Amino acid sequence: MRAGLPLLIALLLLMPLEGAQPSGAFNVAHRGASAYAPEHTLEAYRLALDQGADYVEQDLGITRDGVLVCLHDLSLERTTDVESVFPDRVTVERDGTRERRRWYVDDFTLAEVRQLDAGRWFDPSFAGARIPTFQEAIDLVKGKAGLFPELKGPARLRAKGLSLEDAVVAALERNGLTSATVRGRPAVLLQSFEAQSLQTLARRLPGIPRTFLVQAPDADGWLTPDRLREMRAFATGVGPARALVDARPGLVAEAHAAGLTVVPWTFRARRGVTDEAATAAAEMRRFTETYGVDGLFTDNPDLFPRSRP
Ligand code: G3P
Ligand code: CA
Repeated sequence: MRAGLPLLIALLLLMPLEGAQPSGAFNVAHRGASAYAPEHTLEAYRLALDQGADYVEQDLGITRDGVLVCLHDLSLERTTDVESVFPDRVTVERDGTRERRRWYVDDFTLAEVRQLDAGRWFDPSFAGARIPTFQEAIDLVKGKAGLFPELKGPARLRAKGLSLEDAVVAALERNGLTSATVRGRPAVLLQSFEAQSLQTLARRLPGIPRTFLVQAPDADGWLTPDRLREMRAFATGVGPARALVDARPGLVAEAHAAGLTVVPWTFRARRGVTDEAATAAAEMRRFTETYGVDGLFTDNPDLFPRSRP
């Protein structure tokens, strides 16, 4: 009995505590738990919740009839069977001798988008999964975790006379999400690679935090202490590609000094690949504990290191 006591204590220390608060840093399920289920499907979002995600990310596009849908790419061909369902609806783009065939989501109505299979490309066991609307994502996630929508391609939509910002503002207002909290954190965080989009959102939804996404090579100009202070005029956080944090070890402290949170992306391991899982978990721990990032995006919410309260 006495010999079992240390083992029991060790096991208790390893067990997640019921209702335990997360470590200082939060995890964002990147496109849902997208290592294990097709990105941006309700299946991936449900799994993210099951795996304890603090936030579930949605990349947002808009259909021709003005409905917000969750899709990473501006077009449908990578993650759906649009090419066989609507072969004639292609947009052919030429760049010199190169030709690219695109099926832009904003050229399709919601009813058409609903006909597409968004799961089979990932694995046949997910055949029949659909592209969700933002409203469906809200209905699933609200109250259980936070939402972290990214406005994708707002400039392209603006040129077509569509406003992603208007649609997002309306959706958040309609759902009572402009100042809500969940588990002690804001219920919604917004993100964009486009400064103009965040400037609009800062005016329209001043109570919702906004993360400005940056990646090389464009990022370099934004990551000096002066530019970070400038960024604070329209953003509350910076979301750098993770390599940019390793390249600039002072970045987190400089961003914090400018009043910005830091939420890098993306930490991932392919499902079933054990050494990748160990590396991803260790990397997430390094970024949260050594760099002190405020949160991070991961395809694998189950690997996010949780510390005890
Ligand atoms: O939004 C953070 C991260 O998701 C940015 O990259 O291309 O996956 O949207 P992407
Ligand atoms: Ca994103």
